[in-house]
Amino acid sequence: MRDVIILSGGERSSERDVSLRSGMALYDSLSKNFRTELIVYDKDELPSAIAERHDAIIFPITLGEFGEDGGLQALMDSAGLCYVGSGREASDLCMNKFAAKATVAERGVPVIDGVKFSVKGGKAMDLSRFRLAGDCVLKPNDRGSSIGVKKVTGENIDAALIDAHDGEFLLEKNIVGKDLTVGVLDGQALEVVEILPKHGFLDYDSKYTVGAADKICPASIGPEATKKVKAYAETAYRACGCRDWARIDFMIDDSGDMFFLEVNTIPGMTQTSFYPLSAQGAGISFDDLLIKLIDLANTRHGM
Ligand SMILES: Nc1ncnc2c1ncn2[C@@H]1O[C@H](COP(=O)(O)OP(=O)(O)O)[C@@H](O)[C@H]1O
Ligand SMILES: [Mg+2]
Repeated sequence: MRDVIILSGGERSSERDVSLRSGMALYDSLSKNFRTELIVYDKDELPSAIAERHDAIIFPITLGEFGEDGGLQALMDSAGLCYVGSGREASDLCMNKFAAKATVAERGVPVIDGVKFSVKGGKAMDLSRFRLAGDCVLKPNDRGSSIGVKKVTGENIDAALIDAHDGEFLLEKNIVGKDLTVGVLDGQALEVVEILPKHGFLDYDSKYTVGAADKICPASIGPEATKKVKAYAETAYRACGCRDWARIDFMIDDSGDMFFLEVNTIPGMTQTSFYPLSAQGAGISFDDLLIKLIDLANTRHGM
């Protein structure tokens, strides 16, 4: 069997911490079954320690910019490396929430009404064209982990944008309801996880602070809704061209309507992350999950 090299870290700080903790959780588990190394990288380039490792399976647990957006995947492809997870194209597509929404909507998965626009110097270009009525949510089009998700109304969008970084944003209708997330393993949906804010209401700050959210698995949404969201997750995974694994976020509103939010091509894998819980709900232990992922990458490389 090939050696396994876990890659974690990354230059940008936002998700580096989760990546490092996930890398350690992976190391603890994989080293029981494989000769395993853990490499932490700091720069947005192919780490020299893996460039020639054609004998190994690379397990990138690299979240966010570069590590998850196809940049790293393109470099690993060029170097002819064998790695776990989605390739360049799917990674790039899923990092772009607007493009991923359009792709899954084409296959019949419901998405939230919204628009994409650019911000430069704290100002949006011609936003009046498509201002949505009522409460809206403003979020970066291409950044993860709820960084900068804000609730706004038509009147205060301009004020909300003043501190915004340059780049693309999404403005969506605000959905009042529950957050759901579903792990997908080799095309098959695992169990549905429901995210419960501890403070009793959906508040972005509290919900995404470590320890502030509780999770239940299976989600308390009934068998029909569960079946539906699993089917949507599998459709979204296929539509985006994902490989090996992904975790797909949805919301369900009070009338039971479901909406796709985004695909995470590299899910967080700390001991308390959603993906391991989703797998556990489907009867797959953390150790077995990782063996399966290594096996999928290994089979692809014909060894
Ligand atoms: N249109 C929306 N209406 C209500 N809540 C939203 C909406 N979009 C995002 N959220 C909230 O923000 C969280 C993060 O949004 P998401 O699109 O998954 O981006 P990311 O996880 O990359 O930050 C969601 O889990 C949800 O709680
Ligand atoms: Mg999300």
